[in-house]
Amino acid sequence: TTTELETEFERIVQSDQRIEPRDWMPDGYRKTLIRQIAQHAHSEIIGMQPEGNWLTRAPSLRRKAILMAKVQDEAGHGLYLYSATETLGVDRAELTANLIEGRQKYSSIFNYPTLSYADVGVIGWLVDGAAICNQVPLCRSSYGPYGRAMIRVCKEESFHQRQGFELLMTMMSGTQGQRDMVQESVNRWWWPALMMFGPPDDRSPNSAQSMAWRIKRHTNDELRQRFVDMSVPQAEVLGVTFPDPDLAWNAERGSYDFGEPDWDEFMQVVKGNGATSVERIANRRAAHENGAWVREAAAAFAARTAGSEKE
Ligand code: ACO
Repeated sequence: TTTELETEFERIVQSDQRIEPRDWMPDGYRKTLIRQIAQHAHSEIIGMQPEGNWLTRAPSLRRKAILMAKVQDEAGHGLYLYSATETLGVDRAELTANLIEGRQKYSSIFNYPTLSYADVGVIGWLVDGAAICNQVPLCRSSYGPYGRAMIRVCKEESFHQRQGFELLMTMMSGTQGQRDMVQESVNRWWWPALMMFGPPDDRSPNSAQSMAWRIKRHTNDELRQRFVDMSVPQAEVLGVTFPDPDLAWNAERGSYDFGEPDWDEFMQVVKGNGATSVERIANRRAAHENGAWVREAAAAFAARTAGSEKE
């Protein structure tokens, strides 16, 4: 009966075991997972664009090779996550259509332009740093295929974060002009990086249910605080500052106090009014349409191979 199925589902979730694709799950749980994992997959794919912008202008062959590998990793993450979403009964073609027609979201962070090469370092350090902070706990997400995908994604993200930090360390030990470039880039990315964690808890409609289902393991504000606490000492090592006059150590809490991100800006970006929102989707749509012949050829080849196996 449904009650027995619900009890069994609750038992699995509450005992920190995994829900697998063939297990019964409430419709809301399935819907929430499809929403979050698809959004996450779209973010990885759209996230290739801001850094991809610098591939042809990387300052050395070494930097170009690193950046190319990194952008390619993001494509891989998108693919694992689309596969995880497919285990919930949706089709990847449908998800791609949802993205390019604006029915599904992707992370706000990828709607900002990459104006200087320092942005490549800062994205690695702060954006991938924020991604790790949010995603390491998702390795313990209650849905098996999502949690398992996160393990590899986090290992690769942690490599990305270090390459960003190493790039910035190199620039910071260069000329004054290079140090200024890094600081200017940090000033632009700090607040958008804090917004990646989502709206404040009292304005996060999905958090309570997602926490109860153990899809999310921490609230948006908890992870944002963790990220600030982790980043301040790293900024000191680098020799940069964050553009927040309210940032101060709070000995009582054993954490840093920090200012309020501009939530109106966040809402605008999420609605599709970010500086590069239109361009990002137009590029994704063009790549999808220009790739139609590849999908057709692959499907034709698969059909022919399947036919020859039957013979
Ligand atoms: N960018 C765009 N949309 C966002 C963002 C953001 N940074 N944060 C929240 N939202 C959206 C939510 O998707 C939700 O909209 P929806 O109900 O239409 O889907 C709405 O704002 C309200 O937010 P919450 O109720 O807090 O939503 P949720 O519980 O899903 O929490 C969070 C948001 C923390 C981003 C969660 O979905 C999550 O952990 N996702 C996995 C990580 C991820 O997607 N990372 C991608 C960026 S990192 C990278 O790819 C390198």
